[in-house]
Amino acid sequence: MQTLDENSVALVFGANGGLGLAFARQLLAESRVGLVWAATRDPDSPSLQDLNRLYGERLRPVAVDITDEASIAALADEVAGHTPQLHLLINAFGFLHDEADGIRPEKRLEDLSAAGLERNFAVNAMAPALIARHFIGLISHQQRAVFASLSARVGSIDDNRLGGWYAYRMSKAAQNMFTRGLAIECARRAKRLICLALHPGTTDTALSAPFQSRVPAGKLFTPDFAASQLLSVIDRSDIEDSGGFFAWDGAAIPW
Ligand SMILES: NC(=O)c1ccc[n+]([C@@H]2O[C@H](COP(=O)([O-])OP(=O)(O)OC[C@H]3O[C@@H](n4cnc5c(N)ncnc54)[C@H](OP(=O)(O)O)[C@@H]3O)[C@@H](O)[C@H]2O)c1
Repeated sequence: MQTLDENSVALVFGANGGLGLAFARQLLAESRVGLVWAATRDPDSPSLQDLNRLYGERLRPVAVDITDEASIAALADEVAGHTPQLHLLINAFGFLHDEADGIRPEKRLEDLSAAGLERNFAVNAMAPALIARHFIGLISHQQRAVFASLSARVGSIDDNRLGGWYAYRMSKAAQNMFTRGLAIECARRAKRLICLALHPGTTDTALSAPFQSRVPAGKLFTPDFAASQLLSVIDRSDIEDSGGFFAWDGAAIPW
């Protein structure tokens, strides 16, 4: 991998999610990666314990609530106390629905609620920005590094032909705007940091589960396929790509 030289260090947020776990697993399988931090609300999950048994100290599961700035800041301090540099930071968390709280994508205006907007914005828009705010010192250095946020094509304003899904679309559009702004600032202060917004394609995870029936047969990706595609996109990306929005196949998505 271009991003990951020998002994490079990666950090995956949302490491128990469908895509986050696939990223962690694939990075660990890459021998050049010296250490993978797996940031999640549940660092003791059976999936991460299985990976720990396989990879030992190359995997560090750590607790974080990405909707709590103090928790993000504490994690940044913990990581900085152990390693001076990260070479890859992936935001693989996201929010779309919560059946228990009655939050689901809106079909029409009357479905909008403050609670739905708040949950979508807290996870999808605010968290990537606060993570960048607290981790910038770890990802801006003399070596190539990538800050990658999983976004969604439905966050593209240009691409919106269907309407609906207001809160998710709005929060992903806000996330994309943050990624673009970060790339512009980093071109001045962190010249080797590449900032990317990435669309995995519709992938078989808890987030997409209630909406998979509308996916054409054979078009639903496995988390392993989507993660491997996105790791290739990250690998091929260059500083000229910073601030861009790319799909799983490397194609640029209009903002
Ligand atoms: N699946 C798709 O079809 C699809 C399509 C387009 C875009 N995406 C995007 O891809 C990303 C990953 O989604 P996914 O499909 O892998 O979803 P997922 O399986 O539901 O995983 C999402 C993860 O987000 C994390 N998360 C949510 N709230 C959190 C909080 N307060 N604190 C810490 N972590 C929190 C959780 O990770 P932990 O359990 O580790 O805490 C959760 O497992 C999202 O940004 C999503 O919008 C997915």
